[in-house]
Amino acid sequence: MNRRRFLGLGASVLGAGALASVAVPSAAYLLREGRPGRLLDSDLDLPAAFQVPLPVPAVLQPVRTDGTNDYYEITQQTAALEILPGVRTEAWTYGGTYPGPTVVTRSGRAAVIKHRNQLPVPSVVHLHGGHTPADSDGYPIDLLLPVGSALPAASSMDGMPGMRHMAGHDLVGERTHTYPGKQRAATLWYHDHRMGFTGLGVWRGLSGFHLVHDDEEGALPLPRGERDLPLMLADRSFAADGSFKYPAADASLAVPGVVSGYMNGVLGDVILVNGAPWPRLDVDRAHYRLRLLNASNARLYRLELDPQPSGGDALVQIGSDGGLLAAPVTHDAIEIAPAERFDVVVDFSRYPPGTRVRLLNRFGSGRTAEVMRFDVSSRAVSDGATVPDKLSTVEELNPSAAVATRDFTFRRSRGDGWTINGDPYEPGRSVADPALGKVELWRFSTDLHHPVHLHLDHFQVIGRNGGDPGPWDEGWKDTVDLRPAEAVEVLVRFTDYAGTFMMHCHNLEHEDMAMMADFTVG
Ligand code: C2O
Ligand code: CU
Repeated sequence: MNRRRFLGLGASVLGAGALASVAVPSAAYLLREGRPGRLLDSDLDLPAAFQVPLPVPAVLQPVRTDGTNDYYEITQQTAALEILPGVRTEAWTYGGTYPGPTVVTRSGRAAVIKHRNQLPVPSVVHLHGGHTPADSDGYPIDLLLPVGSALPAASSMDGMPGMRHMAGHDLVGERTHTYPGKQRAATLWYHDHRMGFTGLGVWRGLSGFHLVHDDEEGALPLPRGERDLPLMLADRSFAADGSFKYPAADASLAVPGVVSGYMNGVLGDVILVNGAPWPRLDVDRAHYRLRLLNASNARLYRLELDPQPSGGDALVQIGSDGGLLAAPVTHDAIEIAPAERFDVVVDFSRYPPGTRVRLLNRFGSGRTAEVMRFDVSSRAVSDGATVPDKLSTVEELNPSAAVATRDFTFRRSRGDGWTINGDPYEPGRSVADPALGKVELWRFSTDLHHPVHLHLDHFQVIGRNGGDPGPWDEGWKDTVDLRPAEAVEVLVRFTDYAGTFMMHCHNLEHEDMAMMADFTVG
């Protein structure tokens, strides 16, 4: 099926009205590509780039398995990590590491993960991209209170405009999340999702990969083992004492969000990949599968290899947020917004032995313009890996099947904060009631940069500003990046699980400052 045949429809359903209602921001700098936030400078000397080897997070082993389920346990705990060489950073972690351990599951088997909270703060775990029933999804006020807390801690939301206190399902010490695994192979990630404090929790270390495999993907001749690399990109800043520096609105953490100068997003001046600053990796002259995840709070990257191999098209995209594409798409550069994943294959045999290939961020400047480096060895390896012309059978949702059309505008509020359709988040107030199993057309529009994320199911982007989808919109997505004054149309169909789920901006400072909404699937 060819998306281009939707063009006419895209233009007509979008119409002039949706765009006219979007205010163009006055400050010109906010319109610059790749500048959705404000840089926070570290207070210590930063290490030289390409000194530290790329770490790969350990794979979490199940504590037991049975005919249908794999059982895991993760302890959320503080840990002293050496992120910058010779510097001690006290982090909030899953299992004592940053990133947390990688959970690897098989489609069709349920992962049952028990989290134990030994942090000094409440937490909420969300499996981003997971097709998850509501009670395991990590609703932001379903707090997991630290071991030994008195139940229930009074909510601190009362002080925040629009975040009226509403009781969630608090638990003390442990909470078990069941992920049924009714989804295809994909690169997912888990992270903190606590109401008002997600930006802080993720910044301090609460994120990890969750990879789903299936038979369809397993049958393809893609790179595997050490040549299938999850790469978690995240920018951070450091205080003089080595701790993660973050401009929280309130040092006692009673008030959510950040100080107002940073409400458009916090940008770090150190680029971490899998928790290491500007790392390097020795690569064979072979194919590598790089599962790129932008786990930054607010930073947008435009990723490019330097040098480009002769002939260009270095980045062969095989998957998106929701798993394999129908067919590969080649890119010279990839723009990746917070929470997006791009699964790409790079053939390093296209480079002469000894080439040092930098992964650059063309939206960065100075130190943030570099991400990591691949040092190509002289070892030519016949790895047997290729990227087939057909990767997967991907159902294309049909716009004419849409039973409802809904508009959601993502804008700044009049005061300090962010809104969806003019309202700051209020738990329990649902803004849409999609029926199970029906296709809907959802239209998002923005004032500034907003990466829009839906829980429960992936969607397909069918248009931008009344025209074609962009070059990075292919496949099943759960997060779509909107630039200032943009409008994007997606088709979505929620399946299997009725209940209340979230839609929100994945700029975590926007999310914490109320750019979230509930929708109720019934
Ligand atoms: Cu990655 Cu609702 O979040
Ligand atoms: Cu936003």
